[in-house]
Amino acid sequence: MKKIGIVTSGGDAPGMNAAIRAVTRTALKHNMTVMGVRRGYNGLINGDIIPLNIRSVSDIIQRGGTMLYTARCNEFRFDEGLQKAKTTCIREGIDGLVVIGGDGSFRGAADLSARGIPCVAIPGTIDNDIAMTEYTIGYDTAMNTAMALIDKLRDTMQSCDRCSVVEVMGRHAGHIAVNTGIATGATYIITEEVPYTVDDVIERIQNTQTTGKHHFIVVVSEGIGNSQEIAKKIEHATGVDTRATILGHVQRGGTPTVRDRVVASQMGHYAVELLIKGYSNRVIGMRHSNIVDFDIQEALSMKKSFENDLYRIAMDISF
Ligand code: F6P
Repeated sequence: MKKIGIVTSGGDAPGMNAAIRAVTRTALKHNMTVMGVRRGYNGLINGDIIPLNIRSVSDIIQRGGTMLYTARCNEFRFDEGLQKAKTTCIREGIDGLVVIGGDGSFRGAADLSARGIPCVAIPGTIDNDIAMTEYTIGYDTAMNTAMALIDKLRDTMQSCDRCSVVEVMGRHAGHIAVNTGIATGATYIITEEVPYTVDDVIERIQNTQTTGKHHFIVVVSEGIGNSQEIAKKIEHATGVDTRATILGHVQRGGTPTVRDRVVASQMGHYAVELLIKGYSNRVIGMRHSNIVDFDIQEALSMKKSFENDLYRIAMDISF
């Protein structure tokens, strides 16, 4: 393995830059040449590739986003796109690739590995929705961002005796919701994994009203219901002035936390070592706080369990 490429693909996540830095520096230490592929798999198809040296990755460990840009690439789902990418790798002399992204990006890495370009994937997504790993790069930063914003909402809700219905990201996974919910003392946490009705939420708010509570936070995981509608129903039933807030993409930006920088550095380092040892079609994960790796197809067939215990604790103590 003499020359490797790095791709960031799918949604960006804080800590991706730290991973790019770790991959680049580890590969350079092993006297390899490093290329940065820009805008996800599109860069492989179009040949949008830049050389990276020690200094190219200076001053990025603390930055959110990705210096390589990122994109979702529909063409890469088909053989024609994959063949174009393979041709680019051969033309550029790229012997292996490190792909940083979510499960959609892993499928691309598996397909390219099957076509003879060794790929190792690193989980980078704020959602932490990938089954084979306890942790995905960006998750901690996104949760801390959401928590800080919900704390601000609480200040104004408390002052005005209001209820805040606040929607957090997570695609179809409620990990951000349950963790930020418990961390902000949410009266109710609505996620896809736990069945609920708006009447349950209303009943809980009404019960806490009888104990003297005047302001309420309801954390909603995105995609599960219309936050505005939920807010209206709560207001109508409880008489509490209620506002809906969608936190949105602010959760994807910002300077990565210590945890994201450290895990990104560990995983980036590990990825290059796997390529050097001749592995392909692997994805890196964290299990019991150790960095490990799996076959990509095996990883994709795993099912992520929800933090039911954490949810139960949140419900037991926030009323
Ligand atoms: O996967 C990360 C994520 O931010 C999800 O939480 C969210 O559902 C999605 O990406 C948003 O995607 P886009 O940036 O394409 O709107």
